[in-house]
Amino acid sequence: MQALVLSSSPRRDGNSSALAVAAVEGLKAAGHQAEMVYADDVVTDFLRDCRRCRRADGECSIDDGYHEMFTRHFLPAHGFIAATPIYWYGMSAQLKSFFDRMFCYVAASHPRSTSTKTSMLNKRIGLLISSEETFPTNSAGIVHQVQEFCRYTRSTFIGVVHGRGNARGDISRDPTDPVAAARSFGRTFFSAHASDYCLDDERPARMWRR
Ligand SMILES: Cc1cc2nc3c(=O)[nH]c(=O)nc-3n(C[C@H](O)[C@H](O)[C@H](O)COP(=O)(O)O)c2cc1C
Repeated sequence: MQALVLSSSPRRDGNSSALAVAAVEGLKAAGHQAEMVYADDVVTDFLRDCRRCRRADGECSIDDGYHEMFTRHFLPAHGFIAATPIYWYGMSAQLKSFFDRMFCYVAASHPRSTSTKTSMLNKRIGLLISSEETFPTNSAGIVHQVQEFCRYTRSTFIGVVHGRGNARGDISRDPTDPVAAARSFGRTFFSAHASDYCLDDERPARMWRR
């Protein structure tokens, strides 16, 4: 399987990128293709007024690496893992911009919006978070947004690894060892059981084989 891991902190040697690197290691150890992209390299602008901004042929006119990353790496991937620090109880602006800018590619005026939408569906999606504060709901806004994105794109939300640290590299001393958890998350990313049932779904009474 093919996975894209997007590290969205401006600190390349920071805490969330340590989780992203570990997840890539785990994915590769399990035999998957995994690519790590730093959002700062490819998302250098926000979504603009798309109707006025887009080119005459319907393509996005913002001239940075987003187009290449979105069309060549995100769309073909079976799985997507986003790594972000908590900024003001939300995700980094880079990651938010990554999601916002998809708008241009699914707009009816985009020449390949139909195939783009098809490629956006049914991925496995994961989240890696670093923060200074430890209280459990400080990440709730980010988790909720990604959960809704999964619902909207019929994707499967595999889970979240949340480590604590502040100075760069701090996360490796978090006693809960989130770096190891991120490595394990990568290793099982494509095989992990994930469920979101409706009342009338058929399912076995036991979750795990004995
Ligand atoms: C602009 C900014 C806002 C932040 N807001 C929060 C916050 O709301 N809650 C929190 O726990 N930590 C917050 N932090 C701390 C970072 O989440 C923390 O240092 C994180 O580990 C940084 O990850 P990084 O090294 O990947 O950039 C903030 C840091 C910055 C720079």
